[in-house]
Amino acid sequence: MLPLFLLLLLLLLLLACPGSSAAGLGVTARTLSPCYSADLRPASERLVSAVGCTVLLTVPLLKASKAVVWEYKTGSGEGVIVDYALDRPTNTSRLYENRTRFNETDFSLQIVLQRGDDRLYRARSESEATGWFQLRVVEPLAEPEILGNSSVKAGANTKLVCNVVEGKADLYWWKKNGELLLGSDRIQFVDNTTLCIVKAAMNDSGYYACVVRNEVSQNETSFLLHVQNAANVVLPMILACVVIGLLAGVFVWCKRRDRPCRGSCR
Ligand SMILES: *[C@@H]1O[C@H](CO)[C@@H](O)[C@H](O)[C@H]1NC(C)=O
Ligand SMILES: *[C@@H]1O[C@H](CO)[C@@H](O)[C@H](O)[C@H]1NC(C)=O
Ligand SMILES: *[C@@H]1O[C@H](CO)[C@@H](O)[C@H](O)[C@H]1NC(C)=O
Ligand SMILES: *[C@@H]1O[C@H](CO)[C@@H](O)[C@H](O)[C@H]1NC(C)=O
Ligand SMILES: *[C@@H]1O[C@H](CO)[C@@H](O)[C@H](O)[C@H]1NC(C)=O
Ligand SMILES: *[C@@H]1O[C@H](CO)[C@@H](O)[C@H](O)[C@H]1NC(C)=O
Ligand SMILES: *[C@@H]1O[C@H](CO)[C@@H](O)[C@H](O)[C@H]1NC(C)=O
Repeated sequence: MLPLFLLLLLLLLLLACPGSSAAGLGVTARTLSPCYSADLRPASERLVSAVGCTVLLTVPLLKASKAVVWEYKTGSGEGVIVDYALDRPTNTSRLYENRTRFNETDFSLQIVLQRGDDRLYRARSESEATGWFQLRVVEPLAEPEILGNSSVKAGANTKLVCNVVEGKADLYWWKKNGELLLGSDRIQFVDNTTLCIVKAAMNDSGYYACVVRNEVSQNETSFLLHVQNAANVVLPMILACVVIGLLAGVFVWCKRRDRPCRGSCR
C-alpha cells in the first residue's frame, strides 16, 4: 500500500512541475515606458508591443555562464542577435545593430522594435537554453482617411469609406456627432470599412467619425457630411410661383370687387 502511495505522490509532483527540466527556463519581457501604445505589464512566453517601443527581455540567471547568445527564430530560419563571451568583445548582428543593449551583468537584452521583429527569441549559454519567447510587433495606427462626398442630395444613397493608411486595423466602428452609430435599414456597414447611407435624409447631416483599433492603438478621423434638401431649389421656385399667382389672383379679384364695393359704401 505504501509503495503505491509513494508512486502516486511522485507522479503528482512530476505533473505539478513539468518544467523542472532545462526547458522550464523562460524569458520574461516587458515594454519599457514611455510607450503609451503598448501594454507595460511584464509577460512570459508572449508579448505584444508596438513599432518604436523598447522591450526588455530578461532571463533567469544562467548557471555561471561565461558565454551567452541571444537568438531569434522565424518561419524561414534562425539567427544570432548578440554573441557575448567574457574574453572577447560582444558583437551584434547587423539586423539589430544600433538598437539593442545587452547587459553583461544579468544578460538581459533591450531592443528598440522595428516592423520585422515579430519573431521568437531565446537566450542560450554553453550548457542550457531558455524556451522560445514570442514577440508580436504591431504598428500603431495613424489617423485613417475617410473617402466620400461631403455633400449629398436628400433621397440619394451615399457611402463613406474608412481607409487605414498605415498599419492594420482589427476593428472598425463609426460615430455620428460623437455617439456610436448603430446600423439600421438605412445605415449599413459593409466590409467593416464602409458606411452606406440609403436614401439620405436631412437629419443624416453631421460629423461622422471612423474609429480604428488594433492591439496597440486606436485612432480616428472625422468627416462632415451635409445632406441638402433636394427641394432646396425647387421648393422656393414653386413657392414663388404660388405667391405670384395668388397675388395676381387677389389683385384681379380686388379690381373686380372694387367697383360694387365702393359703390355700395358711398
Ligand atoms: C561575431 O564576430 C565573429 C568574428 O568577427 C563572426 O564570425 C560572428 O558571425 C559575429 N557574430 C555576430 C552575431 O555577428
Ligand atoms: C550603426 O551605426 C554605425 C555608426 O553610426 C553605422 O556605421 C552603421 O551603418 C549602423 N548600422 C545600421 C544597421 O544602421
Ligand atoms: C545590468 O543589470 C544589472 C543587474 O540587473 C543592473 O544593476 C545594471 O544597472 C544593468 N546595467 C545597465 C547598463 O542597464
Ligand atoms: C493618430 O495618428 C496621428 C498621426 O496620423 C498621431 O499623431 C496620433 O498620435 C495618433 N493618435 C493616437 C491616439 O494614437
Ligand atoms: C461624389 O459625387 C459625384 C457626383 O455626384 C460622383 O461622380 C463621385 O463618384 C462621388 N464620389 C464618391 C467618392 O462617391
Ligand atoms: C471584416 O469583417 C469580417 C467579418 O465580417 C472579418 O472576418 C474580417 O476579419 C474583418 N476584417 C477586418 C480588417 O476588420
Ligand atoms: C430622420 O428623418 C427620417 C425621414 O425624414 C426619419 O424617418 C427618421 O426617423 C429621422 N431620424 C432621426 C434620428 O430623427
